[in-house]
Amino acid sequence: MAQSRPGMEIVLYPDPRLRAKNAPIEAFDEELAQLSREMLALMYRTDGVGLAAPQVGVNRRLIVFNPEGDPAQSESELVLCNPRILVKGREKSVREEGCLSFPGINFSVERPRFVRVEAQDLHGRVQHYDFEDFTARVFQHEFDHLEGMLFIDRMTPAEGLKVRPLLAELESEFRTRA
Ligand code: CO
Repeated sequence: MAQSRPGMEIVLYPDPRLRAKNAPIEAFDEELAQLSREMLALMYRTDGVGLAAPQVGVNRRLIVFNPEGDPAQSESELVLCNPRILVKGREKSVREEGCLSFPGINFSVERPRFVRVEAQDLHGRVQHYDFEDFTARVFQHEFDHLEGMLFIDRMTPAEGLKVRPLLAELESEFRTRA
């Protein structure tokens, strides 16, 4: 498995790179393949199931995920470039989510249970996917990152009350590092 590049780190809330615009991927080259391998390695190392490029400080439309969260199950790995949601199912599901950019914060998020997605692979070929249940949830969470949207934007007011002190802690840690 590829090593993550020295210095490649998870960007933590409220770093502005998590809210920045993400540029489409145009060059499907070895550099892109290497970036996706390093992101997957970092995702596994941090026990994540998905990672979006802005979360490693690269503001491009690339996401990697593996709903199994296990590098031994690499057949479940997905690398999606320039993904688009073509269809969202009407049926919703609610489940607790976490985010590598928000250590220690988990809460329930409602999302469509099904999405149909178009994306390009590492060679630039257009692919279509039907994602359901947990896989659909992981995809939608990562896709939100490409839109500069974070899971805290989807909190209910009640969840907000619970989570606000934890967010304030991350904000104060960020100011300390800056
Ligand atoms: Co996230």
